[in-house]
Amino acid sequence: MAKKEDLRAIKQEIDQLINKIKQWNYEYYQLNQPSVSDSVYDQFYQKLVKLEKQYPQFAKVDSPTKTVGTSIKTSQLRKIAHQTQMLSLANAFNYDDLVKFDQQIKKITGQDKISYVCELKIDGLSFSVTYENRQLKLAATRGDGSFGEDITENVKEIKSIPITLNPNFVKNLEVRGEVFLSKKDFQKLNQEQKKLNLPLFANPRNAAAGSLRQLDKTIVAKRKLDAFLYYYIDALNDGIKTHSETLKILAENNFNINKEWKLCQSINQVWAYITKYQKIRNNLSYEIDGIVIKVNDLTTYEVLGNTNKAPRWAIAYKFPAATTVTKLLEIFPTVGRTGRITYNARLEPVGLSGSTITYATLHNGDYIIERDLRVGDTVEIKKAGDIIPEVIKTIIKDRKKNSKRFKKATNCPKCHGILEQVDDEVDQYCVNTNCPARILKSLIHFCSRNAMDITGLKDKNLARFVELGWIHNVADIYQLVNYRQEIINLEKFGEKSFNNLSTMILKSKDNSLERLLFALGIRHVGEKTAEVLAKNFKTLDNLMKTKYQVLAEINDIGPVIATSIVDYFANQNNKKLITKLKTAKLNFTYTTKTSREKQIFANMTFVITGALSRSRDYFANLLKNYGANVTNTISKNTTYLLVGDEPGSKLDKAKMLDVKIINEEELMVLIKNGN
Ligand code: IVH
Repeated sequence: MAKKEDLRAIKQEIDQLINKIKQWNYEYYQLNQPSVSDSVYDQFYQKLVKLEKQYPQFAKVDSPTKTVGTSIKTSQLRKIAHQTQMLSLANAFNYDDLVKFDQQIKKITGQDKISYVCELKIDGLSFSVTYENRQLKLAATRGDGSFGEDITENVKEIKSIPITLNPNFVKNLEVRGEVFLSKKDFQKLNQEQKKLNLPLFANPRNAAAGSLRQLDKTIVAKRKLDAFLYYYIDALNDGIKTHSETLKILAENNFNINKEWKLCQSINQVWAYITKYQKIRNNLSYEIDGIVIKVNDLTTYEVLGNTNKAPRWAIAYKFPAATTVTKLLEIFPTVGRTGRITYNARLEPVGLSGSTITYATLHNGDYIIERDLRVGDTVEIKKAGDIIPEVIKTIIKDRKKNSKRFKKATNCPKCHGILEQVDDEVDQYCVNTNCPARILKSLIHFCSRNAMDITGLKDKNLARFVELGWIHNVADIYQLVNYRQEIINLEKFGEKSFNNLSTMILKSKDNSLERLLFALGIRHVGEKTAEVLAKNFKTLDNLMKTKYQVLAEINDIGPVIATSIVDYFANQNNKKLITKLKTAKLNFTYTTKTSREKQIFANMTFVITGALSRSRDYFANLLKNYGANVTNTISKNTTYLLVGDEPGSKLDKAKMLDVKIINEEELMVLIKNGN
């Protein structure tokens, strides 16, 4: 049995993993700007799955392992409820995982021979399209699996998707598939972005997602999106018995089907298909990130059923990340805006998946020590499709005799202040709030597009203004007008640029509170958390007054983030900064219109208990979409307790405190009647 302290550490680790993965989901699904590679994501995700299995007492109902993908970020697009939940797929990483998948299917169905259809796993964005009376009626993104976003007009711009069904085909139909951008069109789009000085998309998937969620359909039309369809929702009801037949029927009816699919009679044949496509994936004109394996016989789907995240009749084999070896020339730390130290590797340049790699991340000091990576070593590096490559291991047999063991830095590489490391965290921090590297990075973050959106203040200019002593902290940005003449006189900075810049700075003062909260760079407060805080507290003053206990209780916040927020606002320097921002007349209120749906539960607090027809997370999101706060504990401030089967002690407490109690049906009536 694990000791009490160990258990506490495990719980903390699970909480931290959940927060991290939620943030990454948000970056990936909502912002289309992932900050970590797929392989790092998978590594952390699998770790969480393992810990939750081992310590089910610490697993949370809203853990990302139990939900499909979150869609907290407000979107301008209308929300649409999926008639059938849009699930994700379970992952397989090796042959053994596939054998287990096959065995499980044989066990549940009682059959000893199962045929599978193998398809390419298109690295795009899943969507659903519904036809009524043979007319394209509605198209939606997956969203959180229960609610997606209305992308009907944009999907109509995709040439390969029929607007009208064949007269001899079914009248009503829902099909699902993947929207993607070819490698060539992705490159063209990024060239355009570069010309227009707009941020580049990390990969075709993000570009497709970003394009599909555009409000302006003419932009979509220009971007040449395409789609493969692979899922006919009611195939069995329409008399189709196998998935292979589905694909043929869809193709006959003008739907774009990926032609590389194959019917396999065993897992060995599946493996041969995987091996083949792993080798030739680079020759395809679109990106794939694996192979999807589906049971062919549709009549078994019902008995196989779903987990709450994925069907049991299919699995996604994920290709391993591309790797290569090169020489590790230097290990150097850099400091981020929160003071966190990242160790980096300078490498002998080497080609990998189409780009030349010169730098890779080494994450933190412990990562290097655990792998005993040394300068001069030949190392294996990995790049999983997008962004930052990482060093994974050393090739020990090639190690030079006189190599030196790595030692963690003791001082900040920029300000030379002593670095700190909290016992159970892997990261070291420069805690000097006046560290020039931290200041510059926090200024860059403050001005970034998703924060205060003062993109006219380029990194280089910020660095210059800091050096010249015109800016010491983010509040000073709002005093830059005082340097009007000096700035205009600067090389490459004319009157027009200055006027544009000052308009942008002025405009940023009106940003809604969530932007400011994110921009301040409070540790652990990413965009999603900032939005949760702004929605809950409405004004900065309210938030600053809020006690730890209240914060920690909010869904999506928890103890780690709550501590960080309380610490931030207790700090004298931060208090001074907030006062300066107030004097500069920044907006401190939440003004974003959340959704087009009526905010019928605005200012109401719900608690959910017991087993409902769908996950608790589903209902929490539903309520939040209607403007409600959702918390875990009943208090006199609770407006409603939503109860399912076997509710437990919360029901007693609600009765004691006279909190209104409703069941699922009553909730639906409230929603229908607009409360
Ligand atoms: S079948 C019930 N087939 O991969 C889920 N998915 O990692 C049915 N994907 O959510 C999905 N290519 O977005 C299926 N040939 C394919 C696919 C595919 C790509 C995506 C899809 C899914 C994700 C799971």
